Amino acid sequence: MNTKLKKTRVVLYFFFYDCISTCKFILPCTSLSLLYLYYIYFYPFRHYIRAGVTMPLAGRWCRITGSSGSAVGCYWSAEGEKIPERSHASAGAPHAAAQLHGTRTRVDHRPLTGILRSSRMSVVGFDVGFMNCYVAVARAGGIETVANEYSDRCTPACVSFGPRNRSIGAAAKSQVVTNCKNTVQGFKRFHGRAFSDPYVQCLKNSLVYDIAQMPTGTTGIKVMYMEEEKVFSIEQVTAMLLTKLKETAENALKKPVADCVVSVPCYYTDAERRSVVDAAQIAGLNCLRLMNETTAVALAYGIYKQDLPALEEKARNVVFVDLGHSGYQTSVCAFNKGKLKVLATACDPELGGKDFDEVLVKYFCEEFGKKYKLDVKSKPRALVRLYQECEKLKKLMSANSSDLPLNIECFMNDVDVSGKLNRGHFEEMCVDILARVEPPLQSLLEHAKLKKEDIYAVEIVGGASRIPAVKERISKFFGKELSTTLNADEAVARGCALQCAILSPAFKVREFSITDIVPYPISLKWHSAADEGLSDCEVFPKNHAAPFSKVLTFYRKEPFSLEAYYNCPNELLYPDPTIGQFLIQKVVPQASGESSKVKVKVRVNIHGIFSVSSASLVEVQKSDETEEPMETEQATDKDGESKMQTDQDEQQAQGDAQKETEEKTPRENEEMETNTEESKSEKKSDQPPQAKKPKVKTKVLELPIENSPQWQLADDMLNLFVENEGKMIMQDKLEKERNDAKNNVEEYVYDMRDKLHGMLEKFVSESVNALSLKLEDTENWLYEDGEDQPKQVYIDKLAELKKLGQPIQERYTEAEERPKVFEELGKQIQQYMKFVEAYKMKEEQYDHLDEADVTKVDKLASDAMMWMNSNMNQQSKQSLTVDPSVKVKDIQAKTRVRMYG
Ligand SMILES: Nc1ncnc2c1ncn2[C@@H]1O[C@H](COP(=O)(O)OP(=O)(O)OP(=O)(O)O)[C@@H](O)[C@H]1O
Ligand SMILES: [Mg+2]
Repeated sequence: MNTKLKKTRVVLYFFFYDCISTCKFILPCTSLSLLYLYYIYFYPFRHYIRAGVTMPLAGRWCRITGSSGSAVGCYWSAEGEKIPERSHASAGAPHAAAQLHGTRTRVDHRPLTGILRSSRMSVVGFDVGFMNCYVAVARAGGIETVANEYSDRCTPACVSFGPRNRSIGAAAKSQVVTNCKNTVQGFKRFHGRAFSDPYVQCLKNSLVYDIAQMPTGTTGIKVMYMEEEKVFSIEQVTAMLLTKLKETAENALKKPVADCVVSVPCYYTDAERRSVVDAAQIAGLNCLRLMNETTAVALAYGIYKQDLPALEEKARNVVFVDLGHSGYQTSVCAFNKGKLKVLATACDPELGGKDFDEVLVKYFCEEFGKKYKLDVKSKPRALVRLYQECEKLKKLMSANSSDLPLNIECFMNDVDVSGKLNRGHFEEMCVDILARVEPPLQSLLEHAKLKKEDIYAVEIVGGASRIPAVKERISKFFGKELSTTLNADEAVARGCALQCAILSPAFKVREFSITDIVPYPISLKWHSAADEGLSDCEVFPKNHAAPFSKVLTFYRKEPFSLEAYYNCPNELLYPDPTIGQFLIQKVVPQASGESSKVKVKVRVNIHGIFSVSSASLVEVQKSDETEEPMETEQATDKDGESKMQTDQDEQQAQGDAQKETEEKTPRENEEMETNTEESKSEKKSDQPPQAKKPKVKTKVLELPIENSPQWQLADDMLNLFVENEGKMIMQDKLEKERNDAKNNVEEYVYDMRDKLHGMLEKFVSESVNALSLKLEDTENWLYEDGEDQPKQVYIDKLAELKKLGQPIQERYTEAEERPKVFEELGKQIQQYMKFVEAYKMKEEQYDHLDEADVTKVDKLASDAMMWMNSNMNQQSKQSLTVDPSVKVKDIQAKTRVRMYG
């Protein structure tokens, strides 16, 4: 009967497996067919689906509409593990709200509508904050913020260097006090900065760790690592952090991670962005996009909204405010159905939670100076502790307005210190900081050309946006209640993961286009060969749509160089306006000796980085019928060394950018955009002047470009860093294994010692008590010679201990198991005896049996009974401190003997 059921199940499994395959093909079709499939295929076998059909479904996606009207979906991982869909709460605020109010929502409006390729591709978003990092992943139809090895979703942006390894994240944070000189925090601000940068020089003295100049002139971090002084570039340090975040994502997704989107502040310049891209590469990540933090938040907000105005309707303007630990960023975005457009951004990169901490630290330094005569700033360790305590106090003050204590034991010179503060007093001390909240908001509205009444909502994120006085000021400025529908800490990471899902072919995501902006106006300057002077032109004004390409036309006879720079020295939050030099090579005059038309494509790419992406020379091949050169107006202008001609139509270009943001992958973007731009420019340039139709043929030659972006890491250096990161990862792994081996010895010593005085006590003979002595010796050894030994030494030590401990443990296990297995054997013997008895009583049911067979069973049962009794007898006389006379496995072997059939 049972076998029959099993067989039926197997058949059904395969049938069901077939159904799922069919389903996979039909999924993109109408919901009607899905419903049909459900009733025909799934409904009759729903119990089997629940019963354990996981294996045949491995790696496949199915979507089942439940009878209740709510949709249920499951994904079976390749390992056969069933992963339920994310809870509504984690899928976004509207779901959470709907659940809270008891309304039943269909999950179909979630942005991730399916898995296109249940491949090894990762979809991950990293929020690399100044203080805190978050990792979000797309899986099973939802976006999820994942936890690190400490079950914490927040990973501190901290790297600590030791004599044998690096510690990153939470493990590094715990060394901030004990290993302060070699524990690095707050390095986000050094990206793309020269060591000589006044900003870096100014910070230098306030840092607990040392910074130094890299051979290339950028900023490096000087630490003791592996007992040697090392200077790591900022890209390397961020790569270390990214390695950790990558590992967190890999542990959560249980597959290797490469494709990702990484957040950057929206005010980052080119050099800073390039530095982060390099860091991602060093960490072995394929960064599909560097995403502005405020844009990531806007995406995380908008993609879930079901009630956005239609495309032809007036857009909904939402302001996003992110106050983190180091930076204050605001943006205003216009939302329509399936579309978000950043209108403007405004920032104060030097305003954040750290400024509030500094006010507190300054206050307590003075107070402890007066009260305890302590010079806190003279002791880095004490200062670090004070920062930690002040940050805690600041957070407490956000929730509580009464007097709150600050106590630190053994703070300095063995002195315990204490102080107190309340929110009112704190706010008074922070008036100057709080006054900096409003100006960016003012400038945001000005640049977006919006009035306060045009703002639909103000969404706040970032840890420091929890400070009541900050919230009050923002709310007062806009004259409205602030909106906190997003998770203030995780919104950036979630937005990045959503963007990654949009860019990755692994997921099917609801159409949602994102148009970002260029934060600072970008100009090009070049030497005009005619008058040896400098010419320049603004190619991307401030707040121009991005990513975006433009084709510029030059008339030249020889190679020429373009310099890109930010033309807003006052506004730029970076000392060096230069973006880079771009040499257009192999430019030659036309056969006629005239200047050639050179088309240069400039681009702000998906990362917000400027580049000269291509250049081509239009070679005019004249026919005999006319001598007319092409585009005479430009060609004759100033001896053919004309001023630059921009080949783009603002209106149309806006649309192109829009289209571009809707594309799935950056590669597709490139192709699409090249075609659009090129064909557009071809059309224009190919128009003959006036009515003349000269018979000319043109040939387009691609020109090589030598790019020299400012502060760009050289390729060989980057490769070296990639290699070194690999070595350091390996070193960390070896050290972890060594530590694990040491911990195993330590754990065994403590565990065995407890057990020898507890459950194993009865099983230890006097002579074997050598183990106790050995354990004690090992414990001492661990704190002396054994403190720092190679992994193999610990493995051998454990083996030595186990050699003594294992027999005792085995005796215990045998003694525990023996009664149970004897009982089992006894029961079995009894069953056979009953059967023999019934046969002898001539019971009808056994009439058909052969007497010789039954006699054989009778003998076997009696023999087994004798064997059991004699062994039980013998064992009961035996001491527990010696090995048992009969082993559990022998008894089990006897039980398994089939006496009949
Ligand atoms: N309840 C709270 N009250 C006051 N401040 C808080 C609270 N919670 C967190 N913070 C502060 O928020 C800051 C951290 O915020 P967040 O994690 O958003 O920064 P970050 O992303 O690391 O930095 P950035 O965005 O500048 O790169 C810290 O200064 C922290 O003290
Ligand atoms: Mg942040």
